[in-house]
Amino acid sequence: MRVAVAADHAGYRLKEEIVDFLRQAGIPHKDFGTHSLESVDYPDFALAVARAVQSGEFDRGIIVCGTGIGVSISANKVPGIRAALCHDTFSARASREHNDANVLTLGERVIGPGLARDIVATWLKAEFQGGRHTRRVQKIADIEANFNIG
Ligand code: RB5
Repeated sequence: MRVAVAADHAGYRLKEEIVDFLRQAGIPHKDFGTHSLESVDYPDFALAVARAVQSGEFDRGIIVCGTGIGVSISANKVPGIRAALCHDTFSARASREHNDANVLTLGERVIGPGLARDIVATWLKAEFQGGRHTRRVQKIADIEANFNIG
């Protein structure tokens, strides 16, 4: 599994923790930045990860900002991206099992690094359950495909 990771300045420190976790766990990953605390715009970094996942180059994405909200909204504008903002392990597992989330978003200003590591580990391990959830995820894709057609 290859994981694309990014953050804005407000998520930079937590992103560094996550990159460290992935390195220690031996999970292939790429850090799309940002690389400092200098102020940047979160949609740019959300888009970089969303594109990397949408293209198939990466299987999953993890994006961090101050709240996790801005990067979640941004990533979910990209067709095929199902970004889930999760600040607990129950939601992280469910976002994979029920929603087949391919992007996880986190807020550095909301949770600490220990919980974030647990959430990331849970989310990377959990598998989509299929079954009735497949129909529902397909309906999300249908909304995406048909919305502008009417
Ligand atoms: C940056 O100040 C902050 O607005 C951003 O990181 C994020 O929380 C937006 O949703």
